[in-house]
Amino acid sequence: MSKQQYVIDQMISAKTIAARIEDLCLDIQKEFSGTDKLIVVGLLRGSFVFIADLVRELDLPIEVDFLEASSYGDDMESSREVRILKDLRGAIEGRDVLVVEDIVDTGHTMHHVTRLLKGRKPSKLRTIALLDKPSRREVDCKADWTGFEISDEFVVGYGIDFAQRNRNLPFIGKVRFT
Ligand code: IMP
Ligand code: MG
Repeated sequence: MSKQQYVIDQMISAKTIAARIEDLCLDIQKEFSGTDKLIVVGLLRGSFVFIADLVRELDLPIEVDFLEASSYGDDMESSREVRILKDLRGAIEGRDVLVVEDIVDTGHTMHHVTRLLKGRKPSKLRTIALLDKPSRREVDCKADWTGFEISDEFVVGYGIDFAQRNRNLPFIGKVRFT
């Protein structure tokens, strides 16, 4: 697949993403106002750019942790069976937690991760996804906040990869095979 020729068409500009993050952070601040420590959990690797921009816009006391769940591998299809490849460093019991995901696609990853983390008894658990592809959903699951809803397109950029490439594009683009 990855040997195929493709071009990337810009879909969401860096400026549009930045403006949306400002709005989302106002909501998140309201939701977590008064927290003594919010643990912002990035799902590796796709959320690393989003979480970096998000935390710099958040006016709250925070810690950052990461969790890696298996996903597509180098394929364009979700594996459905979710495995934890790297767990959190810290405990979350009794803490406020915000899980940061790049895309909710079939929903398996978000569903699995939220169930796992809820079992650790955080005082509050909320989720945010930069992108949502509702038409692809296989399990009932929705992030508390979504940056943008998109149709069934394969996207890259702003941390999101196709076979590990294109994560460093500053915008979100769709992959078009030529
Ligand atoms: P889900 O478990 O099917 O919801 O898949 C979630 C994961 O699949 C996301 O965290 C992404 O890493 C990956 N993914 C889903 N759609 C895309 C895409 O369009 N481009 C690149 N990765 C994607
Ligand atoms: Mg991912």
